[in-house]
Amino acid sequence: MSETEALRDRAAGLDKADELGALRERFVLDEVVYLDGNSLGALPASVPGRVADVVGREWGRLRIRSWTESGWWTAPERIGDRIAPLVGAAAGQIVVGDSTSVNVFKAVVGAVRLSGGPQAGRDEILVDASTFPTDGYIAESAARMTGCTLRPLAPADMPGAAGPRTAAALVNHVDYRTGRLHDLPGITAAVRDAGGLAVWDLCHSAGALPVGLDAHGVDLAVGCTYKYLNGGPGSPAYLYVAERHQGAFDSPLPGWNSHAEPFGMRAGYAPVDGARRGRVGTPDILSMLALEEALTVWDGVSVEAVRAKSLALTDFFLECVAAHVPAGLVASVTPAVHAERGSQVALRCDRADEVMDELITRGVVGDFRAPDVLRFGFTPLYVGFAEVERAARVLGEVVRG
Ligand SMILES: Cc1ncc(COP(=O)(O)O)c(C=O)c1O
Repeated sequence: MSETEALRDRAAGLDKADELGALRERFVLDEVVYLDGNSLGALPASVPGRVADVVGREWGRLRIRSWTESGWWTAPERIGDRIAPLVGAAAGQIVVGDSTSVNVFKAVVGAVRLSGGPQAGRDEILVDASTFPTDGYIAESAARMTGCTLRPLAPADMPGAAGPRTAAALVNHVDYRTGRLHDLPGITAAVRDAGGLAVWDLCHSAGALPVGLDAHGVDLAVGCTYKYLNGGPGSPAYLYVAERHQGAFDSPLPGWNSHAEPFGMRAGYAPVDGARRGRVGTPDILSMLALEEALTVWDGVSVEAVRAKSLALTDFFLECVAAHVPAGLVASVTPAVHAERGSQVALRCDRADEVMDELITRGVVGDFRAPDVLRFGFTPLYVGFAEVERAARVLGEVVRG
């Protein structure tokens, strides 16, 4: 049996034994190997019907009545509570709305204020040096607004750097480019021991691996819903404010939706209690209810099982790449150690942009990140092992030229 045949056999066996395999039916997919769910998750099959109902009946026929009768007004907290178990949070701490960028702003400024800020001698915001750009841009602006200095650092150096001047640390749980999983429990504990607050960006971990927000004492967190949570293009993000901070959380965007009495139309602002304090303005109902429906694919699914399959998929992909791609043509920048790996594999490669274009033409969809990285995301809810073997085989053909 050739090496290729052996790998295909293994893939077939792994697919047969896969307890999550049947979940693929909950999505609209085709023969394309879709390894870009870390950028835009696939469409859950029940979403189009739900969106049609929201538009046709709730908006079309009930109109304004839907704010109460269809539960539109309470959707941000209700959907937050649906996301909560996926990231290890008890109910009442997550609110859905706005983009991740906007929530990074609320969380970082809110964290500095909770820490006491420069008046309490806390005038530094730590940020991971390789952060997704929007987090860095917004943290820099938040630092200027609050009278702090931004200190970019490797996440591994944050525990040593956190001290009496630390107001907050903004860290990506999984690095968007390399797929490296950072030490959320360790960094959170070190920042908190130093008297600062830890703010985590969960965009690349929520829905792919256990996060344990409550268990690890995270202070604030944000994340998007269009990647592993499959909420759809531009679906709203979320903000987690740990219950112990909610009473003192002072949002820098105190819109009327977070007023204690939003319909009192008062001149002065008085914040509502709980997760709702993170709301700003009118929620984007169409996207939000599409997300709510998308989250039903998680019914009966454990995040631990998803993590086990994710690691099996990325291990198998690396093994298939080693077998199918001639040595030296690609190099993985994703950690080999499971404890440091998210749910993607990033391969450095010459002419990576052209290679990705050719892969897409041949039915294997990942993405390219400048300057030279091929990114492949593995969504355990719908990616199978035979697809993984095919992706690596096609990659080998393409890079050989
Ligand atoms: C880690 C991370 N943070 C933030 C963002 C930006 O989110 P948004 O466009 O929802 O503001 C992204 C988008 O891909 C991301 O990957």
